[in-house]
Amino acid sequence: MNVLVTGGAGYIGSHTCVELINAGHFPIVIDNLCNSNPKSLERVASITGKEVVFYEGDVRSEALLNTIFTKHSIDCVIHFAGLKAVGESVAKPLEYYENNLCSTLTLCRVMQQHGVKKLIFSSSATVYSGDNEMPLRETSKTGNCTNPYGWTKYMGEQILRDLTVADPQWSVVLLRYFNPVGAHESGLIGEHPNGIPNNLMPFISQTAIGKRHHLSVFGNDYPTHDGTGVRDYIHVVDLAKGHVAAISHLMQTTGESVFNLGTGTGYSVLDMVKAFETANGIPVPYEIAPRRPGDLATCYADPAKSKEVLGWEASKDQTDMCRDAWKWQSNNPNGYDN
Ligand code: NAD
Ligand code: WQD
Repeated sequence: MNVLVTGGAGYIGSHTCVELINAGHFPIVIDNLCNSNPKSLERVASITGKEVVFYEGDVRSEALLNTIFTKHSIDCVIHFAGLKAVGESVAKPLEYYENNLCSTLTLCRVMQQHGVKKLIFSSSATVYSGDNEMPLRETSKTGNCTNPYGWTKYMGEQILRDLTVADPQWSVVLLRYFNPVGAHESGLIGEHPNGIPNNLMPFISQTAIGKRHHLSVFGNDYPTHDGTGVRDYIHVVDLAKGHVAAISHLMQTTGESVFNLGTGTGYSVLDMVKAFETANGIPVPYEIAPRRPGDLATCYADPAKSKEVLGWEASKDQTDMCRDAWKWQSNNPNGYDN
């Protein structure tokens, strides 16, 4: 199948391109490279032996989307493109609402014009309300987001839900990712955040390689087994395979469906530090710091629905996540800028 992948040069998008190709699909990427490097797609070609068709440009450009839909017979779309830094979204709300919502609106409008009504949307566990019991099920309460980024995902879901109500030919799969980490086992593609990493795993890797002096552990007085925050970390290759599984479902159904992509297991910050040290034989110096505003004590998925309906479940463990994160980091200390 021809799959238009928006944001396909990015972290999750590039890994998904590999798995799409491995499954016999043809990814066609549009990315404006605002948070990525086109070398990621060259690396995808090295891993798979297949070139990826790439359009550099913005998903908000109706003209470019029209060109792509006219040139290629697109069967379905995976919509990764978006801005994703929580803190930045608090400082630049307009940029986040503009980019994340207008890209989704423009994309859907052009899809509709070309009669392509099959879309997978990158959503996030962040759409779940903070007062739910764990584990989070797809039916758990959503809303009460704590930052503009989270609201863009919540609103993006709502826009797509409304579309499936208005036009029953649409099929939309909302995938709620938990905490994607790690990299392709080849060490050729991975995540290289700009500036100081916000997320735990890139910070651990950059500390291990000596770019950061130490990791600040945000709080050790949470009601968890060791006092540090617990999350559902999922290997990015498992996550990518979840998209391939979702395509089969997407093509066979209409309406809206929602799936958690997580492992169902929560690890604390210190669990991750120790696992990284053990998997790679490298120390990760850390210091306990105050809690980070907006953080929950615990967040993990119930992935049962994804297993039952999509036939997908995560297969990689914490050691795989830590080993592959380090392989990417140590082989590419400056990301793709080498
Ligand atoms: P990423 O920044 O690596 O990838 C996003 C890609 O989209 C980048 O390559 C960027 O250049 C591109 N992009 C952004 N705005 C664009 C636009 N208007 N037009 C064209 N390209 C544009 O991020 P990622 O981690 O791969 O995340 C992919 C998606 O998954 C995002 O929508 C993100 O919000 C969502 N998500 C990510 C996480 C996570 O922790 N990484 C968790 C939940 C959901
Ligand atoms: C994980 C744990 C921190 C950094 C975020 C977004 C969410 C989603 C995934 C996109 C927490 C602790 C972290 C550090 C630390 N993204 N930590 N020191 O906050 O669960 O989720 O990324 O959709 O929307 O909010 O992930 O990796 O930032 O934090 O102690 O330097 O690590 O407090 O307990 P989070 P994270």
